[in-house]
Amino acid sequence: MKYLPIDSQLFIDNRERFVKELKPNSLAIFNSNDIMPTNADGVMPFRQNNDLFYLCGVDQEETVLVIYPDAKDENHREMLFVKETSDEIAIWEGAKLTHEQAFGVSGIKAVHWVSDSDAHLKALVKECDTVYLNKNIHSRATMDVETRDDRFAKEFKEKNPGIAIENAAEIMHKLRAVKSDIEIAQMQTACDITEKGFRRILKFIKPGVMEYEIEAELSHEFLRNRATGFAYSSIIASGFDACVLHYVDNNKECKDGEVILMDFGAEYANYASDMTRSVPVSGKFTQRQRDVYNAVLRVMRGAYPLLTIGKLIKDYHAEVGLLMEEELIGLGLLNADEVKKQDKENPLYKKYFMHGTSHFLGLDVHDVGNFDWPIQAGNVFTCEPGIYIREENLGIRLENDLLITENGVIDLMGNIPIEAGEIEELMNS
Ligand code: GLY
Ligand code: MN
Ligand code: MN
Repeated sequence: MKYLPIDSQLFIDNRERFVKELKPNSLAIFNSNDIMPTNADGVMPFRQNNDLFYLCGVDQEETVLVIYPDAKDENHREMLFVKETSDEIAIWEGAKLTHEQAFGVSGIKAVHWVSDSDAHLKALVKECDTVYLNKNIHSRATMDVETRDDRFAKEFKEKNPGIAIENAAEIMHKLRAVKSDIEIAQMQTACDITEKGFRRILKFIKPGVMEYEIEAELSHEFLRNRATGFAYSSIIASGFDACVLHYVDNNKECKDGEVILMDFGAEYANYASDMTRSVPVSGKFTQRQRDVYNAVLRVMRGAYPLLTIGKLIKDYHAEVGLLMEEELIGLGLLNADEVKKQDKENPLYKKYFMHGTSHFLGLDVHDVGNFDWPIQAGNVFTCEPGIYIREENLGIRLENDLLITENGVIDLMGNIPIEAGEIEELMNS
């Protein structure tokens, strides 16, 4: 791993919180992610299962975590199964975690080889009343590919037809939505690396530069600061493509007079950061570009104090919609009379601002959590208003990452330049 070791107390505390949510005499099983194939003998970079990582910190393939708090034998209350190394693996891949190292990472004393997991589970399952397995329930999850957890669940249910099964994911969403101090420290590091990337490209952007050259500069800065890489595919979208919300081709020349919208974030220790900045390719906004930019910035600033504890996230989204409505009227894009008569279910501002303002952020960039919940201290949200004017080849979005606290929001990206004047100054320095 490129990241520095994480205090195992994080994972010890996470398991303690998880255990409190379980039914009596139940056992939970979590599997690592698969190493996904590409073609021939190629594989994608390994990305750990976030729930397994959250509960034990092991960032290695072929890992199984078993939690059985009511087990009679103390050694069965938390068990970690990791891949055994071999001379062959040592030659081709290098070291795998030893039992001592796995304990050091996770704080779990009972560490075994994964080849022994079936035998252990067979015995434990006979003792318990309920088994929690893990199935992705993210509202926008793609289910085309079977995960290791899915495969395990299918086989497990076949072998144990009578047993009561629950989905651990419901609990995981609830727990992961509230971040602890150690998690916030990882996320702050991810944001700080993103800042370094942004400051680097501000000096690099000029007419004639290619979008992929900007992406390459970011990648360089991220890796040299211990990021695993990008937390998601970067959007480096100049001119009209700033209005294409998921543009990721990043293959055009940036032209004088255009604004370039850049949505990127470093991933550090499996935690995502998620930022957007929109800057003038020439280093100077036109008056119209600046007006739209400042309108977006006012909506962003206006949204922060609306993120209050106890408010439903969907109500917050509706409130931000009203701020945006006002700005769009000010810019001459919407007509105040028509707005008064609009269908409330389908407000007119959606023509220029068609996505949500905020999403949960954490181990996933669109992190687990539910928009029907009230806002809680410890939630981390993005705040990312945007105005997209296709007929003007202009799209502007700004995005920062915010921690909710009892005393208001803390902007984890508060040091990253955002004022139009500061951006121009840095680009021309
Ligand atoms: N970068 C993805 C998003 O902003 O939601
Ligand atoms: Mn983003
Ligand atoms: Mn986002």
